[in-house]
Formats: sequence, structure tokens, C-alpha cells
Amino acid sequence: MFLSLRILIYTISFLASYSTALSFPTSLPTQLIFQSPDSLFLENIAVRFSGELLLTSVMSPTLHMLNPFSVNATLDAVHTFDNSTAITGIAEYQPGIFAMVTSVLNTTIGRAALGSVAVWSVDFNSAVPVVHKIGALPESRGPNGLTSVPDEPDVLLAADSAAGAVWQINTRTGASHIAIQDPAMSPTISSNETVSALVFGINGLHVHGRFLYFANSQLGTFSRVPLKIENGAVMAAGSVQQLATIGSVDDFAIDSQGRAWVAVHPGALSLVFPVAGGSWTQLDVVGNSQGNNSILIQPTSAAFGRGNLLQTQMLYVTTGVGQVVRVNTTEQGGEF
Ligand SMILES: *[C@@H]1O[C@H](CO)[C@@H](O)[C@H](O)[C@H]1NC(C)=O
Ligand SMILES: *[C@@H]1O[C@H](CO)[C@@H](O)[C@H](O)[C@H]1NC(C)=O
Ligand SMILES: *[C@@H]1O[C@H](CO)[C@@H](O)[C@H](O)[C@H]1NC(C)=O
Ligand SMILES: *[C@@H]1O[C@H](CO)[C@@H](O)[C@H](O)[C@H]1NC(C)=O
Ligand SMILES: *[C@@H]1O[C@H](CO)[C@@H](O)[C@H](O)[C@H]1NC(C)=O
Repeated sequence: MFLSLRILIYTISFLASYSTALSFPTSLPTQLIFQSPDSLFLENIAVRFSGELLLTSVMSPTLHMLNPFSVNATLDAVHTFDNSTAITGIAEYQPGIFAMVTSVLNTTIGRAALGSVAVWSVDFNSAVPVVHKIGALPESRGPNGLTSVPDEPDVLLAADSAAGAVWQINTRTGASHIAIQDPAMSPTISSNETVSALVFGINGLHVHGRFLYFANSQLGTFSRVPLKIENGAVMAAGSVQQLATIGSVDDFAIDSQGRAWVAVHPGALSLVFPVAGGSWTQLDVVGNSQGNNSILIQPTSAAFGRGNLLQTQMLYVTTGVGQVVRVNTTEQGGEF
């Protein structure tokens, strides 16, 4: 999550004066498939096997679903969580079963009330989704991204933007502990300093291959750390490698080639990919770093479509003003 009101106001007034996006071509084709009528801040996205999008918001305790195949798509409520005001990260950890992080979140400072952070499971394998609480993160104040770990159905990893850490949660027992804590995950503020504005360290995180990839909003960095799992415990198997410095990075999607499609505030989608010699580079594929582009306004996260071959080349990007934008990644060879 990341919201700059000043840029938001600027972008909206810009939008009002230039109603068409056509005069500002971007390298990849995009289509706005949904605009929340009340500009609901969309925080994160996961995609069901059927292709339906699951959407979370830091401004709502309701998990929403959106059908990207419908002409005038609407947000349909799936479940509203008690004792919370926000849902941040969401990840599928077993086929058809999604975990998500809820909290009572102060969106002025991006910090959750101590004791309010919980991890829930929503199982879509029956006609009516079955909801149960997995556990809690009683010491966390910085709930943000969430990822599952391939071939480890009992493991969830949750970003803590305040502590600069990654929590491991056992999906069966609900037990949790800090698995990795690193300066590369920290916000540039000491943990006991009073936060008066949005200050996020680690934000989005995803496991691909043997690596945990993560974005640090405050440092503007995109990095990865090799993982190992010993007796069910996830730990760093080496030091953090910084792959790119991009700007105000949020969440991202990783494609089948291992490239990252990163939502960057105020208005870009950046592709971060390896080049010869072991280094990585980046390319804005939608919008630009100035944010004076009407296509993506405060992009927050991205996920590839599912359901058919065509959909796996479509990247769905959520934004802080309630947009869901479909990006056709075919030209860049993007595929889930
Ligand atoms: C979608 O919305 C537009 C504008 O309100 C309307 O003209 C059109 O009939 C709708 N299409 C469908 C399939 O509902
Ligand atoms: C919500 O909080 C109330 C009061 O603390 C508690 O009784 C209730 O069990 C909580 N609900 C959930 C779903 O945790
Ligand atoms: C959010 O935090 C700020 C800074 O500590 C505080 O002034 C404000 O009252 C808090 N808002 C809510 C709704 O608690
Ligand atoms: C965006 O802002 C930059 C820097 O101010 C400017 O050079 C560029 O022309 C602007 N682009 C558009 C589409 O207005
Ligand atoms: C996606 O882009 C490719 C290449 O530009 C194009 O051939 C294809 O028709 C596009 N697909 C959709 C659904 O827009």
C-alpha cells in the first residue's frame, strides 16, 4: 500500500483535462476492465483457477471477486471479516484455497493496531466458500504482502513493512515466527520512532524457484534472497541480492521466465529482468515514473490471468483509485 494524496489530486485533475489515454501511447496495450465507482483503494489481487479475480482493499474488510470475462464487471462480496478494517496480502496456498491477512489498519500511517493482524483461509472448493481463521500475528504492525511457497502447502510467508521482516505462518497450526529479518527489508526509520506518514519497508513478496523476491517501497529496491527449508522452517540460504532500484515499488507478479512485473507509484508498471552477465535491468512497460499518465493511477499489485491460454498472457493490475487494468503482455513474451 502506498498513497500520495498530492499526486492523486494532480493525476485526477490531469485526467479531467485529458480524457483520452490515446495521446500517450505505452509500449504494451492496456484495457481498463473495472473502475470502482467510489474509487475503492485496491490493495492486492489473486486469481482463481477459473480466472475470477480476488481483490483486497486497505479501506474495506470485505474480500471481493470480479469476473474479468464479463462486459461490465462488478465487485461481488465474498466475505466480510469481523474485527478488521483492511485486507492486505492474498495468496493461494493449496488448490482453490486462498489465505489473506486482515487487520485494523490506520491508513494515514500504514500501521495496524497491535493485536489486530490475523491470517484467514477462504476455501473455494465448495459451492459456498468456507472461511476459517488460520492464526494471528500479534506482534506485527506492518501487514502487507503474502506469498505461498511452491510444494510447501503448510507454509505462508507474510511481509511486515514496519519490522522489515518476513513472518512464516504454518497453515495447519497457525503458529508463526519471524523467518527472515534484514536491513534490505526495513523502512528507513527505526522501529521505535513515531511514524507520522506512510513508511513501508518490504511490501510485495513472492517465491519463485529457490528465491524469495521482494520490493522495499521506502528504499525503492527490488531484491531477492535464496531460501532453504530445514525441518519445515524457512530461512535465508545466503545474503540479499539487490536486483534493481526502481522507485516507489509496491507488489508484483513473476512470470514463467522468472521476470518480475512490478507496480511502481505513482504510475508505472516496470518489467525487471536478468540480462547477460548476471545483472538485472528494468523497463517501464506501462506508464511512466512521473505518474502523469492516465492509464495506471497509483498501481498497487499485479497478477496474471488464468482459466485459458489467452488469459495467462494477460496481467491484471490493481490501483489505489479502484482501477483494474488488463495489460496484454504478449509483445514482451509475458506468461504465467
Ligand atoms: C455495459 O454498460 C454500458 C454502459 O452503461 C451499457 O451501454 C451496456 O449495455 C452494458 N453491457 C452489458 C452487456 O451489460
Ligand atoms: C471479534 O472481537 C470480539 C471481541 O473481542 C470477539 O468476541 C470475537 O470473537 C471476535 N471475532 C472474531 C471473528 O475473531
Ligand atoms: C492514525 O495515526 C495518526 C498518527 O499517529 C493519528 O493521528 C490518527 O488519529 C490515527 N487514526 C486513527 C483512525 O486511529
Ligand atoms: C510527464 O512529466 C515529464 C516531467 O515533467 C514531462 O517531461 C513529460 O512530457 C510529461 N508527460 C506527459 C504525457 O505529460
Ligand atoms: C495481445 O497482443 C498481441 C500482440 O500484440 C495481439 O496479437 C493479440 O491480439 C492481443 N490480444 C488481445 C486479447 O488483445
